[in-house]
Amino acid sequence: MEDYKYLFKVVLIGNAGVGKTCLVRRFTQGLFPPGQGATIGVDFMIKTVEIDGEKIKLQIWDTAGQERFRSITQSYYRSANALILVYDVCLQDSFESLPQWITEMENYAGKNILTYLVGNKTDQINRREIPTAIGQQFAQRYEMRFLETSAKEADNVEKLFLEIGKELTKLTRENEVRPKGEAGFTPGSATTVSSFSCCKI
Ligand code: GTP
Repeated sequence: MEDYKYLFKVVLIGNAGVGKTCLVRRFTQGLFPPGQGATIGVDFMIKTVEIDGEKIKLQIWDTAGQERFRSITQSYYRSANALILVYDVCLQDSFESLPQWITEMENYAGKNILTYLVGNKTDQINRREIPTAIGQQFAQRYEMRFLETSAKEADNVEKLFLEIGKELTKLTRENEVRPKGEAGFTPGSATTVSSFSCCKI
């Protein structure tokens, strides 16, 4: 059995084509895949990271942005410890869809969940449609953490997932020292999962 302290489930959501798969592949495999096809249903990848000297497993679920898979992807929200809502900083449409995604989160995700808003494709400087400040304001309004990334240039991608790992570890530790009966964060159970598995549904 592989040795790790915690397993956390992280789920990426957002419109088709905003770069969810590329963010996951950049973080887990260190590459920007050429000619990435649309995700069918849900994929997952696992990466073990070290936080404060302890091994933490991140099980990262990459959901399809296309509407026709919505009923499949919704079922993955419930068990998530963190949700990453991604939009494309060069595509106004993907930003305007955010309120619909927020409704999905409210309907299907658990209460004690860490949420991030991520504006991806910052490398496309001349094509940007959504200024950083607008993304930040939206995140603040919905009490989400905010980051802009480029999966292509590997900008802020590692930071995003490591921040999530750190924050979830902190919340879990706080929960462990909390007196019994007091409501708190519910960590992912440390079940055994084979390393770096990937599944297509
Ligand atoms: P679905 O699986 O359909 O939901 O899409 P997705 O959100 O997973 O998008 P995907 O990762 O497949 O990327 C869609 C397109 O955007 C691909 O052509 C990628 O090469 C491109 N792309 C993704 N991230 C970036 C980025 O950071 N910069 C640039 N320039 N292009 C990117």
